[in-house]
Amino acid sequence: MQSESRVVALVATGGTIAGTAARGDDLVGYDAGALSAEQLTAAVPALAGEALETWTLARLDSCDLGHATWALLLRELQSRLARPEFAGIVVTHGTDTLEETAWFLHRTLAAPKPVVLTAAMRPASAPSPDGPQNLLDAVRLAREPGARGVLVAFGGKVYAGSELRKLHGWQLDAFSAGDAGAVALVEDGAFRRLRDWPAPELHPAPVGEVPPGRWPRVEIVTSHAGASGRIVDALVADGVQGLVIAGTGNGTVHTALREAAARALAAGVAVVRASRCLAGGVVGTTDGALPHYGAATPAQARIELMLDLLARRA
Ligand code: SIN
Repeated sequence: MQSESRVVALVATGGTIAGTAARGDDLVGYDAGALSAEQLTAAVPALAGEALETWTLARLDSCDLGHATWALLLRELQSRLARPEFAGIVVTHGTDTLEETAWFLHRTLAAPKPVVLTAAMRPASAPSPDGPQNLLDAVRLAREPGARGVLVAFGGKVYAGSELRKLHGWQLDAFSAGDAGAVALVEDGAFRRLRDWPAPELHPAPVGEVPPGRWPRVEIVTSHAGASGRIVDALVADGVQGLVIAGTGNGTVHTALREAAARALAAGVAVVRASRCLAGGVVGTTDGALPHYGAATPAQARIELMLDLLARRA
């Protein structure tokens, strides 16, 4: 269903895009999420007079994001998507966990209209913030005829929500979609599509029906030189339900960690692997190797395993 409407719903959740510093030239020491949704849109003159419905859902530094915020966001987005007056939705967010929220929504939100996440690397108080342009691109994308699904508008590119990864800690061009590349480029306010809009891939887990406090506990453990596996034993003793091992290279896992993973599996804990490399994920498998979720980053694999465990429990 593609709405005829031009109204865009805009929800602010915090992040650097809404961050302000005491000194304008301070690009590091700022309060993420200081500004409301209204203040964010007021800073973009090109949005003046546009049909927007804004609301401030959270004022988080996204490193503090929790499952309760996801559950709330999912519910709010579902109710807005059902309203015919909205062409699409924009979500402003911190960059630090953007790849996680994008994956979570891609797997849990039926989005026949565009749901566009956006963010910024420079706070709103910077001499030359990147947030206003990203926000403008996101609003335009939310109205783009034919667009659908969970998308990310950032730095003049459009990414599929399921393919996003943050690559850089502070440079402006901080994101990539790995080998998949961007879905579209923003060219003077228009979108040049490089491939089809991403198809929906909804996970069957009944995530909206289970309170976030009861979502399965899944933790990430990294494989590295000198790994002992003791952290896995400690997590199993502490009641963890799933583990993602962020492996080296193509998802290889230190022998000590593999042995600990075998003990975890024997104790009924689900264990998968991912790659700690910045691109490529994990391809192929060998006899007895732990399962993996392909190109998903370790943080995205954590969500996927949580959803799998939730579906298995249902
Ligand atoms: C955050 O993720 O909330 C802070 C960092 C950022 O948005 O770049």
